[in-house]
Amino acid sequence: MSTTLSPSLQRFIEGMPKIELHLHIEGTLEPELMFALAQRNQVALPYASVEALRAAYAFDSLQSFLDLYYAGAAVLLTEQDFYDMTAAYIARARADKVCRSEIFFDPQTHTERGVPIATVFAGIARALREAREQHGFGSAMIMSFLRHLPEEDAFATLEAALPLREQYRDLWTGIGLDSAERGNPPEKFARVFARCKELDFRLVAHAGEEGPAQYVRDALDLLQVERIDHGVRSEEDPALMARLAQHAIPLTVCPLSNLKLCVVADMRQHNLARLLEAGLAVTVNSDDPAYFGGYMNANFLAVAEALTLKREQIVTLARNAIAASFVDAEERGKLSAELDAYCLAQTA
Ligand code: ADE
Ligand code: ZN
Repeated sequence: MSTTLSPSLQRFIEGMPKIELHLHIEGTLEPELMFALAQRNQVALPYASVEALRAAYAFDSLQSFLDLYYAGAAVLLTEQDFYDMTAAYIARARADKVCRSEIFFDPQTHTERGVPIATVFAGIARALREAREQHGFGSAMIMSFLRHLPEEDAFATLEAALPLREQYRDLWTGIGLDSAERGNPPEKFARVFARCKELDFRLVAHAGEEGPAQYVRDALDLLQVERIDHGVRSEEDPALMARLAQHAIPLTVCPLSNLKLCVVADMRQHNLARLLEAGLAVTVNSDDPAYFGGYMNANFLAVAEALTLKREQIVTLARNAIAASFVDAEERGKLSAELDAYCLAQTA
């Protein structure tokens, strides 16, 4: 991408070890792979070519994106499909120096088409375990409920998934909440999140992307989440901002997503720098990189350029992600040491 960043800051960003905390695996399905899987599975796509599909990626809201995203996921049928998609993402992430990724997946998108939930888990987990063994790539799986569907459906998904818990204990540690935010407040999922908390899952939820700051409060108070996915509209509520800063509640911000979904009109108007300035535990993530024009490095470069971020701010964003990640103390120490060593080597 063209950039007016200094070449040295660009190189620094590109080489910096990173952790990704907000990534929908279904949002990594690149048009080329979507077409290949459509052909392999004899699924018809309503687009003549990869180019025609890419040209359709012009969104004016979260819903306009979700319509395409769920339609695209229809090509995913077999364990091998989920494996191929996940392996392709890991290759892209590793090229951007991502060393760990905590990945959302939406079983309801697949089970409603007749794909067994065990198939979804198996394909994603096989790619993640392979990457851990071959490259030391760390990961977690965060099973997310679709908030446009009723809470009973989320309960049914949880019940269907629980028999798999033992088999995927090394990966499946989290529960999330995504899809259409407006009109689907956190309160709608309070009971199922309470059950997930009893079961000792780590809890996160999308809030304050298109929805109001009140949804961020409700995600914290009613769902008891540890991290807020997006959360950029928190800025509309100064008391909430103070609370997020005081308790160091991480926000997994996704700059290119916010731009593509018209949450911000221009990257220079993004509030990431102001959130950082206010002392919030902001992180940078790619959300649905196949749809929003870039993976982790593209997101870092876009905000660094538009908001003229300094090297220290870039490092703070990376440190915040280490602090916010669902790793144990030993692994957190290793990730911090790796980032420290990188910074030292770059300033030497
Ligand atoms: N599902 C995939 N990407 C999403 C986003 N940015 N917001 C809500 N749900 C999503
Ligand atoms: Zn998201």
